[in-house]
Amino acid sequence: MPEANGKGKRGLFLSMEGPDGAGKTTQASLLKERLENLGLEVVLTREPGGTLIGEEIRKILLNPDFQEMTVACEILLYSAARAQLVSQCIYPSLRQGFIIISDRYLDSNIVYQGFAGGEKLEIINKINMWATAQLLPDVTFLLDIDAEYGLLRLQRKGTGGANWRGDRMEQKELEFHHKVRQGFLQLASLDPGRFFVIPAGDEPEVVHEKIWGKMQELLGKNPLLFLREP
Ligand code: TYD
Repeated sequence: MPEANGKGKRGLFLSMEGPDGAGKTTQASLLKERLENLGLEVVLTREPGGTLIGEEIRKILLNPDFQEMTVACEILLYSAARAQLVSQCIYPSLRQGFIIISDRYLDSNIVYQGFAGGEKLEIINKINMWATAQLLPDVTFLLDIDAEYGLLRLQRKGTGGANWRGDRMEQKELEFHHKVRQGFLQLASLDPGRFFVIPAGDEPEVVHEKIWGKMQELLGKNPLLFLREP
């Protein structure tokens, strides 16, 4: 098991969340690049995935052939990948004083399997608190986008044009994706200290500048990030 929350942690833990097609992956890369330009050490990872084991679990989770997968199975597999990521990558990086950017984290589990998938939030929360030794991000950037527009963006970007099918989660009905968006917004309203909601329908550069504004604030509060041991 990973160590108890925050023990020995000196870095900064950021997560990017949002409905499918919100542009998290693009924003995570832009942010990494900008932080690295300041000379900071940044580790970019993703969920599900980020470790060899996690990437194998990802293949199972997103395989469109596994339509019969239950929500309980989803919760446990996503959390299994997350437990491995926290222990193998996130905690060690935070202890070294790095900035971690995770493209999705446990809020996705609460929203996709809870708000949209129908499982009790309390159960998902308990499993995740155990799997991550209660490690929450310092800040979560929620890229907010209309569910239908997000899926349309993916369709435009994806191969196959109008025949685009998406992965197993992207294939869920529109109603599911609407619940995802509402779920994220609800989580954000419950924890305004951690969540920073960003309208994500604009051009990537515009969205990035909004994220960067918040980042500058955070860096100002964490001067230790600039004073790491060699
Ligand atoms: P994502 O990395 O956004 O997919 P892609 O790289 O193809 O854009 O995430 C994969 C999918 O998994 C996405 O639809 C959200 C879903 N998901 C959950 O349902 N629960 C979770 O706990 C996580 C982390 C992701």
